[in-house]
Amino acid sequence: MTIALSDLADLAATAEREIAAAADEAALDALRVRYVGRREGEITKALKTLPSLPADQRPAFGAAANAARERIEAALERRGADLREAALARDIAGGAVDLTLPPRRVRVGRYHPISRTIREITRIFAGMGFEAIEGPEVEWDYYNFEALNIPPGHPARDKFSTLWVNAEGTMEVALAATGSGRTIVDAGRKQPMLLRTHTSPMQIRVMEQRRPPVRVVVPGRCYRFEATDATHESVFFQYEGLAIDEQLSMADLKGVLYSFARQLFGGERRVRFRPDYFPFTEPSAEIAFDCFVCEGSGTTDAGRCATCGGSGWIEAAGCGMVHPEALRRVGYDPAKVQGFAFGGGVERLAMLLTGTPDIRLFHQNDLRYLESL
Ligand code: DAH
Repeated sequence: MTIALSDLADLAATAEREIAAAADEAALDALRVRYVGRREGEITKALKTLPSLPADQRPAFGAAANAARERIEAALERRGADLREAALARDIAGGAVDLTLPPRRVRVGRYHPISRTIREITRIFAGMGFEAIEGPEVEWDYYNFEALNIPPGHPARDKFSTLWVNAEGTMEVALAATGSGRTIVDAGRKQPMLLRTHTSPMQIRVMEQRRPPVRVVVPGRCYRFEATDATHESVFFQYEGLAIDEQLSMADLKGVLYSFARQLFGGERRVRFRPDYFPFTEPSAEIAFDCFVCEGSGTTDAGRCATCGGSGWIEAAGCGMVHPEALRRVGYDPAKVQGFAFGGGVERLAMLLTGTPDIRLFHQNDLRYLESL
């Protein structure tokens, strides 16, 4: 059956009436198919007759069919919106939406206490003119040991249980003193690579690349093959400091480190500064803070304090005046410039700042603990 142009407006009007009366979404869908369905819809069928019409009637017929389609689609849209709104109102009235339900908690991200401590360290040193930089974690034996006056066989290597890296990029474990690290070729020179055992290699790298005055602080991850306890982990962070200039003395070193301690902890924390030995500084010293767990007594109710090992002090950093040999090695003239260096553990400071009695709590990633800090 073909449809006449004059019938199209009636068709639209009938459709509008039926659509407005559609009881639900299903009835509405049926009407959509019936009137504007792509295959069998009334409008589609009408348009299919177009080619059989005389050419001069086609434009008017086509326009009327499209106008009818637009009216029907608008009616579908209106009724659909009304039905959805009514359904929602019914749901609310019927109690399907619990308006008293608390919203989902928004979880705001935060810095890990180690990151927070690093940011605090670099902020304080920045205030004293130290630029924060970073260096490689996979390091040459040369920078980690040799250039720091720790040649193969030097007993200081015993202190660092080194993770060596062989040419295939896999790791092997050996004591540095045994010299059993595999060799690797770097621009013609053969030498072993390792995971840096401290951030001190950056002293040499920085001095090789810059002329005095130098003032840098270098936070970064370090690695040692060691059993863990309350204050030791095999992966940990250090911060290294280096200042080189024409008039620097041990007094400047002490001043900078005391100022650092005061800014980090306030005036309360007790600071111990005493002689020590490091191959790359002369003279050398060690800085320690009083233990926050046993309050410096070395004992707790449970006996020997596990956090400070019973000494009452938490060793925080090694330091000293940069060894003349290290200065000469990078082409500085020790008669003209001197400097001081320091290097300490970030976790130790984070423990003191957060009252965390065991370093392992930082890395076990128990969010209940980390979020409480
Ligand atoms: N790198 C040393 C360590 O990990 C600590 C240290 C000692 C760093 C003396 C220094 C320093 O810069 O001058 O045990």
